[in-house]
Amino acid sequence: MSDIISPHGSAALNPLFVADESENARLRAEAEGLRSVVVSSATAANAVMLGGGYFNPLTGYMSKADALGVGESMRTADGLFWPTPILNLVESADGIAPGDRIALRDPNVEGEPVLAVMDVEGVEEFSEAELAALTQQIYRTDDRGHPGVQAFNSQGRVALSGPIQVLNFSYFQTDFPDTFRTAVQIREAIAERGWRKVVAFQTRNPMHRAHEELCRMAMDRLGADGLVIHMLLGKLKPGDIPAPVRDAAIRKMVQLYFPPNSAIITGYGFDMLYAGPREAVLHAIFRQNMGATHLIVGRDHAGVGDYYGPFDAQTVFDEIPADALKIEIFRADHTAYSKKLDKVVMMCEAPDHTKEDFVLLSGTRVREMLSEGIAPPTEFSRPEVAQILMDYYRSQAG
Ligand code: ADX
Repeated sequence: MSDIISPHGSAALNPLFVADESENARLRAEAEGLRSVVVSSATAANAVMLGGGYFNPLTGYMSKADALGVGESMRTADGLFWPTPILNLVESADGIAPGDRIALRDPNVEGEPVLAVMDVEGVEEFSEAELAALTQQIYRTDDRGHPGVQAFNSQGRVALSGPIQVLNFSYFQTDFPDTFRTAVQIREAIAERGWRKVVAFQTRNPMHRAHEELCRMAMDRLGADGLVIHMLLGKLKPGDIPAPVRDAAIRKMVQLYFPPNSAIITGYGFDMLYAGPREAVLHAIFRQNMGATHLIVGRDHAGVGDYYGPFDAQTVFDEIPADALKIEIFRADHTAYSKKLDKVVMMCEAPDHTKEDFVLLSGTRVREMLSEGIAPPTEFSRPEVAQILMDYYRSQAG
């Protein structure tokens, strides 16, 4: 284990999930007698990430001072490097006061079962101006048409802060038993395989040829031992491909086109922020926590619409202190299939090419083709992947 990259901010990973069964049962029983709050989906996702060790070394939800510091300078009040606020925002404190012990209920599971127990240390309200400034710092826009901005601003303005103990992993473990993994489990999987140099690939999309080759290029150029494909399993904006379909497409692609035992396919339970650069930094932290030494950051990483420049999520890493993270970033230029060279390349590495030399399709065009039952060219998408996606679109139309 000691060979594996150390977690962010501490020597050992401290997941907040209560793994001891009798202690977990005791807390569940206790929670039934506690005052409870149904949290937002974002707050529930934060609990799942904290539970799995991904948000190490945080011990719970941030205070207002932590969140404002994170917005301003990517530092909590204690000086910990952290790029996005991890908050439990509610509409109203409803009499909850510092010192209370409360149960957090899960809005994403039928019956709203208890997800975590919290020791409330702070109950603080953000002013409208503070929340607006924080939104701007994290998302670089205040446009409510941005799905992350909309989600962040529809939770309320009262922050309940303090440590939590996590009792389960929401719907992720039950809905995605083969794919959902905690940072603890991924560290174990990496250790079992004896991998030292480990590349993580973030994705919220099915993997087309450009993604596949991007992973291959990163592995080859870094001389990596293994790849961890790490897909987002939480909430997305309308129009994004649902996780089970993506999962199936990715599994098929790896099974057919990657050497055995070179890649592990996993996912994490978090709602997409679409925060571009800030989210890329968060991505790097939690990939370090799961034991990856490198994270691929390509074009428009974690972006949406035209809110970010195509490589803002790379340049943000030039703006953070050199010692902030141990994980390294594999920066990739726009990758596309070159008709001249008959393979996927990074566009900057084919300076003699014109646009016409590449197979380029917009996301909208690909969606149109798939929903009409037309497979994109094999240079763009593996036929087996295209088939899974066409089946999905057809089932939607019917
Ligand atoms: S993301 O929101 O999860 O970043 P997506 O699943 O589309 O979206 O991208 C996964 C990773 O692949 C990101 O690092 C992204 O920058 C990169 N990527 C996707 N398409 C390309 C491309 N054509 N060229 C370079 N990088 C790409």
